[in-house]
Amino acid sequence: MELRHLRYFVAVAEERNFTRASERLFIAQPPLSRQIQQLEEELGTPLFQRGTRPLKLTEAGRFFYGHARDMLARAQDVQAMTRRIGKIERKLSLGFVPSTLYGILPKIIRRFRSEYSHIELTLHEMATVEQNQALKEGRIDVGFGRVRIDDANVRRIVLREEVMMLAVPFEHPLGLAGKPVRLQQIVHEPLILFPRAPRPSFADQVLAAFRDRGLEPANMQEVRELQIALGLVAAGAGLSIVPKSVHGMQRTDVTYLPLDERGVTSPIVMAIRMLDDSQDLRNLLTLIYEIYDDEGIPYVRETL
Ligand code: BEZ
Repeated sequence: MELRHLRYFVAVAEERNFTRASERLFIAQPPLSRQIQQLEEELGTPLFQRGTRPLKLTEAGRFFYGHARDMLARAQDVQAMTRRIGKIERKLSLGFVPSTLYGILPKIIRRFRSEYSHIELTLHEMATVEQNQALKEGRIDVGFGRVRIDDANVRRIVLREEVMMLAVPFEHPLGLAGKPVRLQQIVHEPLILFPRAPRPSFADQVLAAFRDRGLEPANMQEVRELQIALGLVAAGAGLSIVPKSVHGMQRTDVTYLPLDERGVTSPIVMAIRMLDDSQDLRNLLTLIYEIYDDEGIPYVRETL
């Protein structure tokens, strides 16, 4: 018995007439009758009461009709899912928080595109919290963020811990001194935090760095994103704590200073769907570690 037999049988059962069924199926009536006969012979029982008009199903026919429809629907689902998996294998959708763009993300993307040119890589800017949902809904296949969110359906790999730095206006006394700064020294300065939402975010890691040392910044302003924070620093509206990679984006009106503190870092976290160990993701992780090795960036290796 083949799927074709099921389709023919369902059409005749629903049209209750061989002529109309053959029109619906775009085949001539004699081959349709032969296929139904073959099916009845294989099942060893008649499915239609011959000589009735409109055509009626036998009891066995009614039983078979319900199951035949189910089997056809399941076959269609399997076809659709297989097509989707085929597409996923040729596409990789990547979510990222904006601050990762200032580090090695552009290099990762360039290398991945050149080494795996048959894979269509799409990029989506989104907060870590949004990436979590997008992974579960299949809108992205991998996310790069800065927050460790607990979710049984998502696996998180901490790629590395990135040191934070202080951004000050270039004529600020701390900038002119050019020395590493303690958080205690800036607790009374206006502090510009980002991103304002959604939380938790990098902003909470900065606040935790102060609070872990028993400090509470006196004057804080939250802004939407990193570029706005740096613009406000340049305008003299306050100081901001940023990931070290931002340092690469030279602005003449902002000075970046190291922090004289241990462990003031922000993780770079790769998030994937739990149990997704596709070859594309493994290649991506290997490529990231290769870049870390080339650039002497410290990290702890994990495997997929
Ligand atoms: C990094 O800067 O280490 C990084 C950024 C984005 C994706 C992966 C790694």
